[in-house]
Parts: sequence; C-alpha cells; structure tokens
Amino acid sequence: MKLKIAVLAGDGIGPEIMEQGVAVLSAVAERFGHEVTFREALCGAHAIDEVGEPFPEETYRACRDADAVLFASVGDPKYDGNPSAKVRPEQGLLAMRKRLGLYANIRPVETFDCLVHKSPLKDELVRGADFVCIRELTGGMYFGEKREPAVNGDGVEEAFDTNYYSRPEVERILRVGYGYARRRRRHLTVVDKANVLASSRLWRKVAQEMMGEYPDVVTDFMYVDNAAMRMIQDPRFFDVIVTENTFGDILTDEGSCITGSMGLLPSASTGSSTPVFEPIHGSWPQGKGLNIANPLAQILSVAMLFEHFNLREEGALVREAVAASLDQNIRTPEIQVEGGGRYGTKEVGEWIVNYIRREA
Ligand code: IPM
Ligand code: MN
Repeated sequence: MKLKIAVLAGDGIGPEIMEQGVAVLSAVAERFGHEVTFREALCGAHAIDEVGEPFPEETYRACRDADAVLFASVGDPKYDGNPSAKVRPEQGLLAMRKRLGLYANIRPVETFDCLVHKSPLKDELVRGADFVCIRELTGGMYFGEKREPAVNGDGVEEAFDTNYYSRPEVERILRVGYGYARRRRRHLTVVDKANVLASSRLWRKVAQEMMGEYPDVVTDFMYVDNAAMRMIQDPRFFDVIVTENTFGDILTDEGSCITGSMGLLPSASTGSSTPVFEPIHGSWPQGKGLNIANPLAQILSVAMLFEHFNLREEGALVREAVAASLDQNIRTPEIQVEGGGRYGTKEVGEWIVNYIRREA
C-alpha cells in the first residue's frame, strides 16, 4: 500500500515523541512492503512563532492531500496565563479539526496490567477496564456562537458560548458509536445532560429513535455527572461511550488517568477528510528536550493509523512490540520499576524499532 503521511510534531515534547512514531511507522512499512512518504508541516505555538498563525494554509493543504495525519501535541506556557492573547496554539488544533471535518474522536481507555498500580483507583476496581469514548469533535460549545468578555450596554462585563447541535451532527456520531459497539461488547452508553440542556434533549431524542435499528446493541443513557462518578466507581461498566464535545473532553481526561498511564493512550479523529492520529496527552513543556517523555502513546497512535486502513497485522505488530517493551521493563522514568534500567524517549523508541525488525 502507498501511504502519504502528514507529520505535525507541534510543540513541547511533540518533536521527540514524533521522531519515534515516525521511526516505528517506517520500520513496520518496510517490514510489510508499504511505500510511505512523510511531509512535515508546522502547527501550534511553533507555527505562530514562524509564520504568525497556528494552522497555516500550507499545513492545511499538507493534511488535506495526505492519506493520514500523524499529530503529536501543541501548546506553550507563554500563552496559558494570558486570556487576552489574540492567537493561541490550541486554535491550530481546533482549526485542523474543523477544516478536516474530523467530527469523530475515538479515545480508547485501556488498562495495562503491569501499570494498574499507578492508577489512583484500587487495583480490583480498575483492572480489566476497557472502553472507548467516542467524542463529537466539531460541534457544541467549542464551535457555537460565542462572545469574548466585553462590557454590555448595562455596563456589565459578559461572555457566552453556545452549545449548538443539529440532528445530522448527532446522528452521524451516534452511528460511529453503534459501529464500535457492534465490533465490541455491544453496549452503548449515550452520555448527556438531558435533564437540563436542550441540546442534550436533541441527543437523547435522536438516540431513542435510532436505537431500534440496533437491536443487537444494549443502549443506555446516563447523565454526565453520573457518568463521571460511575467511571471511578465502576469503570468496567462501560464498553462504548458516545457524547458531545465538551463532555467528551472532560470524561476522557478522567478516563485516561484512571488507567494509570495517560502517556500510553492514543486516539484517532475521523470524519469527512484526512484522519488524524495523535496521543491524548499534551505537549508537556516541562519535559521538552530532556529525553524523558513516554513515546508509547505516539507509537500506539501509529497502530491505530494502520488499523484505520485495515492493516491489522501491522497494527498488531506495533501493539505486540509495545507490550513486549513494557514486559521487559524498557520503560521511560515515570513508569519504570524500582531498580529498573534508565531508558529515555529515544531508547524506548529504538528498542521497539529493533523488536519490529527482529520479528520481521
Ligand atoms: C483535547 C485537548 C483540546 C480540547 C485542547 C488542547 C484544545 O484538551 O484534545 O482534549 O479541548 O479538545
Ligand atoms: Mn482535553
């Protein structure tokens, strides 16, 4: 297969973990005889510094013309404490999502047995938890009509965001959710706040109309506050969660941390144009340049990329290599066992590349 990959390394630890992601992708491609070409493009704070905007037109074209985007992370502390900054790195990410029509964000929450002890939850609660959160990614408050803080006619400073959803937006993301449920344990939980929000009542209405088309899937409905609680009391309850943009943002941070291994969780965003594969953790500016960031989430994003193109063996080999590295304690410092060796971002990536070559 021929694959054109746009590489958006972004900020912070992004370039370091991306280097390992690209190396793994290349090693697998070589092993299976795929022809992969890479095209690097600017985004995030890095792009603001170089060309004045976080998602330049040229980056958009590189993404649009590629078969897939491998993305690392964006963000820089110099923008965080400044609510009046005119342009922010995160806008680059949002622009990418919107312009590529990436309405479905797939965030698997999986536990690795050897890391369960790192979870803030009790071992017996979290061990074996395995669910996918399907987050709607191009609607809701993130993109609805908004007003930045400004003084109104009555002399009061105000601001607002609008949580807008249309029926087609809700329907298409629910279909993605049902698709995943059918390939998994056939249990879909629609998370909303239908007791309060009109937009959630639309979600619930559409889901109730659609559930009859999927009699083989158990559909249940849960308010978001309850879902947040259930996730820490009984995470194994969940199989597939489908929810709106803001709720999904919050719930997936919670989900990732209960596994004890945020640095290991990849994600995929798909929609009407090129799909994007990225780790769910951020740019971790404090770790930049220190060769200590865990590259596994980036590497597992490469597995998701292969799987997206139905290259299952390729994806499986990446996952096998990652599992082997963990088993053999080839781990970055935050998950290394006491007395274990010292491995940095590079060393973990290189070990995995060698594993892939050896198994070939
Ligand atoms: C995420 C991030 C982004 C979001 C930020 C960086 C804009 O938190 O991908 O979850 O809120 O969607
Ligand atoms: Mn988030």
